[in-house]
This record gives sequence, C-alpha cells and structure tokens, in this order.
Amino acid sequence: MQCVRDFARFKAEGRKISIVTAYDAWTARLVARSNVDAVLVGDSAAMVVHGHPTTVAATVGLMALHTRAVARSASGKFVIADLPFLSFRKGIPAAMNAVGTLVRSGAQAVKLEGVDGHEEVVERIVGSGVPTMGHVGLTPQSVNRFGGFRVQGRTDAEAEALRRQAHRLEDLGCFSIVLECVPAELAARITSELGIPTIGIGAGIGTDGQVLVLQDLWGVDTTHTPRFVRRYFDGDGALTCALNQFDADVKATRFPAPEESYT
Ligand code: KIV
Repeated sequence: MQCVRDFARFKAEGRKISIVTAYDAWTARLVARSNVDAVLVGDSAAMVVHGHPTTVAATVGLMALHTRAVARSASGKFVIADLPFLSFRKGIPAAMNAVGTLVRSGAQAVKLEGVDGHEEVVERIVGSGVPTMGHVGLTPQSVNRFGGFRVQGRTDAEAEALRRQAHRLEDLGCFSIVLECVPAELAARITSELGIPTIGIGAGIGTDGQVLVLQDLWGVDTTHTPRFVRRYFDGDGALTCALNQFDADVKATRFPAPEESYT
C-alpha cells in the first residue's frame, strides 16, 4: 500500500487490508519487509511498551516519539498515528497542533476515537489535507466510561448509535474506520453500508480489513489475550528460551567463543 487512495481501491476490488501496530524502529523494519499493508502507531504503546493499564496515559509527546521511530524504518508502508486521549477535545487549535506534531513526526494519516462532540475537529483535520481514520465501538480512551474493555453494540440502541457514528465519520471525510470489539453481524452490516473501508479488531470476518497489535500476533505480550487475538508465534517461549541458552552458555563458559572475541 503506497498511499491513502489504496484504501478505497482495495475496498472497491474486494481485497482485504492488513494493518499491524508498531511503536519502534526495529519492529517497523520487520513490518516494512512483510506484505502487511499499513502500520498503526497506536496509543496502545502506553500499555504495551510503557506498562500502563490503559491508553489514557498516552500524550502527544509520547506518540510523536514513537511515530518518529516507526517512520524512520517503515519505508514504503503507510503510517497512521493515533491522536491520544483528550488531544482532540481541547478545541481546534490544540487538536491541529497535535495533528501537526504527528504528521511532522512522519505519520501520513491520523486516527481518532469517536465522533460525537468533535465533528468540527474531524472536518478541520480532513479539510487540512490530513487523511483521517475514525474509530468506533470499544474506543479504549473511553474505558472508564465503559467500565472496562467490553464488547460494544450488543443492544439495539447501542448498535444504532454505532451505525450512526460510522456514517457520520464517513460523511465528515474519513478515509477508513476501525471497528473495535463489536458483534460480527453489526460490523458486517456497517461495512456493507459504508463506501469507505472498515478495519476490524474483534469485529469478525465481515470487515474490509483487520488490525492487530503486533506483540499479540507475535505472542510476546501474553499478559492478557483477548478472544479476538490469534497468536502466530510463541514469541514469549522462543525469547525466554534464547535468554536461558545465553545464561547457560555464560555460566558454562561456552560464550564467547574465540571467533566471537578480538585478537
Ligand atoms: O492503539 C491501538 O493499538 C489501536 C488498535 C488496537 C486499533 O487503536
């Protein structure tokens, strides 16, 4: 995927879109070598990298730092950066400063959660030429309102509200929308109604694409594994095994070997 226009093209062609998160240069380099379509510098960095219990700890400064690291190594990939908690809720000048910081850090697009109450901000970002991705359903920045990381849209009223929000984001000019933790049937319905692609996470098979947190996919963050995660690698096991082999080699004086030493 070279540019934002590919999102619309892929939906038109019925070609699914794959996105993973990355927060640093070395993981971005590996993603850049893969066939994955795009990279999300998610505010989940606050949890995955910094050990916070939720994403509300992320700041614009933190997101800019991770975005710069990713952008240096993710050559050829479309890089989307998350606008963190409250950064787009303090009025248009503050929101636009946050967007400017992320774009100057190397993001080609920004993502923001929800729509109610910040429609004007979305309109301004889009109108400023910055591709904007929406995010509805389980929007983790609202975890305290939801009372935990819970599936959204299970009641008729909630489902209607989600449909309305998704349509509103499309009308405001978003190029794509993340649907997080919503029933598969609802996600498929929203996907069929929208002209822009939906990217699911915990939203079933009927979306136009899927996004996963890289550390979940690699099995290197096994502290909490939601139902929607598929682990493609036992990263925890493989990395612990490597550490224990190093430890054993050091203690048995098998490391370093002569060829690993200088004359
Ligand atoms: O921050 C993040 O990683 C995200 C994805 C899970 C969609 O927003």
